[in-house]
Amino acid sequence: MSVAPVLTVERLRVGYPGRDGSIEAVRDVSLGVDAGECVGIVGESGSGKTQLCLAVMGLLPSNARIDGIVRFAGAPGDAVRTVRGERIAMVFQDPQTALTPHLRIGTQMTEVLVHHRRIAVREAREAARAMLARVGISDPARCLRRYPHELSGGMRQRVLIATSLLCAPQLLIADEPTTALDVTVQAQVLELLARLRREQRMAILLVSHDLAVVAGLAARIVVMYAGRVVEEAPADALFRSPRHPYTAALIACAPNPDGPIPARMATLPGRPPGATERFAGCPFVSRCDRSVERCRHEPPPMVALDDGRRFACHEPLPA
Ligand SMILES: Nc1ncnc2c1ncn2[C@@H]1O[C@H](COP(=O)(O)OP(=O)(O)OP(=O)(O)O)[C@@H](O)[C@H]1O
Ligand code: SF4
Ligand SMILES: [Mg+2]
Repeated sequence: MSVAPVLTVERLRVGYPGRDGSIEAVRDVSLGVDAGECVGIVGESGSGKTQLCLAVMGLLPSNARIDGIVRFAGAPGDAVRTVRGERIAMVFQDPQTALTPHLRIGTQMTEVLVHHRRIAVREAREAARAMLARVGISDPARCLRRYPHELSGGMRQRVLIATSLLCAPQLLIADEPTTALDVTVQAQVLELLARLRREQRMAILLVSHDLAVVAGLAARIVVMYAGRVVEEAPADALFRSPRHPYTAALIACAPNPDGPIPARMATLPGRPPGATERFAGCPFVSRCDRSVERCRHEPPPMVALDDGRRFACHEPLPA
């Protein structure tokens, strides 16, 4: 039985005019998220993950140049446009800045419901209280009376997740939702997302620079490099046998989830290309230990296999 995609992105490009030539933040990205599915997006800092999410949400700054298709839950989309608000919600990296500092949590949460659902304040407050309980806040009535600065980072992120869930979105975009949190709270927030996905059949697009974060939750993982998708595969296949050398390098750098946490994370040598750089061939060539001559001047085409994998590499690792 095929599942309807809740989000389809086709050939998306996001660029900006820049002093040293135009900036290409997202370069020709296509991907899909099915109803109830969790898709992970990983890639180093600057690979275009947040720009992709903001484009889907329609939240890019006004000077952004956008091209491609963003289609939500089967709605027709022959140019970039999205249906947001009630059906797609996003949580951001920093729960501190995403909340309004001078408003109590209760006020912020009820405003969302009163605005979107046009329900009475009393009813909205009860819904907010119930949602806070749902995300594991032990004294929700007290939490509603608090200001953001009175809450811990983990509590704030829970509040944001609860707020984003108030309108029962079909898709939650979570951009580095745990980066600002300590390791124990990180695990709790990821567990919460996993539970909500199961209980609400809500699709999640989970974005992180850290493969270990998406590993436990995402059924499918999309790897981005320099604004492009370089590989996509079911999570287990990706870890078992990555085909793109960049994916293999990311896996080699990720700490073993069952092992001790290393004092220093291994990092990939070299730097990714900047958003103003243009490449005649493969963007990964300067850091790749499998590169051959044609990688310098021939862009590797995306190859899609029957088992749901795709990758763009002239010399892929063996299956
Ligand atoms: N408003 C803007 N104007 C110009 N360039 C921008 C703008 N916003 C982002 N960029 C550029 O777009 C590229 C992609 O940025 P993006 O924030 O999407 O990366 P990311 O993958 O989310 O990185 P991180 O892991 O650090 O969050 C970067 O080179 C960034 O400098
Ligand atoms: S196309 Fe060439 S340079 Fe790029 S990842 Fe593959 S082998 Fe490496
Ligand atoms: Mg980002």
